[in-house]
Amino acid sequence: MAHVLIFDSGVGGLSVLAEIRKAAPDTRTTLVADNDFFPYGNRTEPELIGRLPNLLAKLCERHLPDVVVVACNTASTVALEEIRLALGVPVVGTVPAIKPAALKTETGVIGLLGTPGTVERQYTEELIADYAPDVHVIRHGSSELVEMAERKLRGEQLNFTDLKRVLSKLTNDLRGHEMDTLVLACTHFPLVREEIAYLLSPDITIIDSGEAVARRTINRLNLSGASGGHQAGDNIAVFTAEEEGLAGLEPALVAHGIDRVEYFQDY
Ligand code: DGL
Repeated sequence: MAHVLIFDSGVGGLSVLAEIRKAAPDTRTTLVADNDFFPYGNRTEPELIGRLPNLLAKLCERHLPDVVVVACNTASTVALEEIRLALGVPVVGTVPAIKPAALKTETGVIGLLGTPGTVERQYTEELIADYAPDVHVIRHGSSELVEMAERKLRGEQLNFTDLKRVLSKLTNDLRGHEMDTLVLACTHFPLVREEIAYLLSPDITIIDSGEAVARRTINRLNLSGASGGHQAGDNIAVFTAEEEGLAGLEPALVAHGIDRVEYFQDY
């Protein structure tokens, strides 16, 4: 049975899981949220490189997935190579969708909304230099928006004034009025995509990497020969810390087809 382990610092993995389910409904999924180390956006590069390969290797030993999806731009843009070296299974990363945004924009101005880590990374610089050298990229890194998505998934009402303030960091840029494409470069942000779209001009196209990551994941599964098929009770969510308020997540987990929750602190 094809089994994908989807890894993020928090609930961002759900946005990627939803795309994988859409593309291949029978895939068995293990969703991991490293909530003990959340948020990744404020962590240093050595901290993430020091933690992720070992943690993922331990998770793979325990859950034996066919493919690992690092459903996190913050982790992928810094530690993908180290993670690949540490694991014996194919790894699909999630990186900012700069290339499709550069192909889409007509004004030549795009927004890049990620975590503080992702928008500053060397990897992101290289994506821009390679695929969008003539595009003006307005960047904003927001851990606050990550927290807002976490709270929404726990059933809290989203505060539109706060969201508007976050988005104003893009729209108030000198060339903000020309922005016609926005890249959601954090897997948490598609979870508040409707609210973002509601506050922005309808002329702005919002792009994320979820669909492309799902496509690559299915390709890797096909190449590895893993077969489809789903058994009830297969789909689990794993958290690295017990946390107050986690119970509030249950409806969102159930809505994403997750059958039960486990904790993993043995790494
Ligand atoms: N969901 C993550 C990403 O795609 C990171 C969120 C965080 O922990 O800061 O970047």
